[in-house]
Amino acid sequence: MPPEPKTLFPVQLVGAGPGAADLLTLRAARAIEGAEALLYDALVGEDILAMAPRACLKIQTGKRAGRPSMRQETINRLMIRLARRGLRVVRLKGGDPSIFGRVGEEAQALRQHGLAAEIVPGVTAACAAAAQFGLPLTHRGVARRVVMATATTQDGELTIDWAAAADPEATLAIYMGARAAPEIARRLIAAGRSPETPVAIVENASAPSASLKLTTLARQAAAAAGRDGAAPALILVGDALAASAAWTGAEGLEALAGAA
Ligand SMILES: C[S@@+](CC[C@H](N)C(=O)[O-])C[C@H]1O[C@@H](n2cnc3c(N)ncnc32)[C@H](O)[C@@H]1O
Repeated sequence: MPPEPKTLFPVQLVGAGPGAADLLTLRAARAIEGAEALLYDALVGEDILAMAPRACLKIQTGKRAGRPSMRQETINRLMIRLARRGLRVVRLKGGDPSIFGRVGEEAQALRQHGLAAEIVPGVTAACAAAAQFGLPLTHRGVARRVVMATATTQDGELTIDWAAAADPEATLAIYMGARAAPEIARRLIAAGRSPETPVAIVENASAPSASLKLTTLARQAAAAAGRDGAAPALILVGDALAASAAWTGAEGLEALAGAA
């Protein structure tokens, strides 16, 4: 008799949220607990990885401890090879996989090889950062839109749709922009955004070590350099932020923005 054809499971492309394990969705937690092969990004913490079964094959794909990131083609090939062996494969990414998480590329690669992809959403960094410090992303009569943007492209160019970003009713959530923060602020002002627009920079959202810096576009634009730390940082820009207790309760913006 010919061997039974193997059951191929859909590869699960799972959002691990911003870092804190209790911000995982139940669906994400179940996927991790059932994983036989786990390919995970650098921002996924040890406590989340520990939820996988002991026998699960764990493969790190992101930059960590000085090791370079795995190439996207290599990640795709690995997912395909492991899924074809009949393993339950989970591709675990920080935040939400559909926001700057290459989920489209990975799902397409799987489909091209006859494999199904299932996407499990996660809490994206912008929502986690806003929630932790009580910062509203929208606010009635003030901010009617949220623009999620990344400041850098593959070739390192600063490309944001500056005209859209200048919309005074939009709150901007800028990913991967901390290093270029002063330049981004200068360009936003040049595009017409008020220099007094509130800016919040949140590092390590959801972690006990999370930090918040409140400033304005003008102050940020005047800063000599952006942040260059290893911690992930998100920049929020918009008038809605001033509606928060964090903003109004701040003991003088001067003091908070001193180290701009
Ligand atoms: C490649 S993007 C991935 C975004 C992710 N898919 C999400 O939905 O949050 C990585 C960037 O997200 C932001 N980020 C991710 N986790 C963060 C956190 N815990 N605190 C602040 N920013 C974070 C940083 O701007 C970081 O450079």
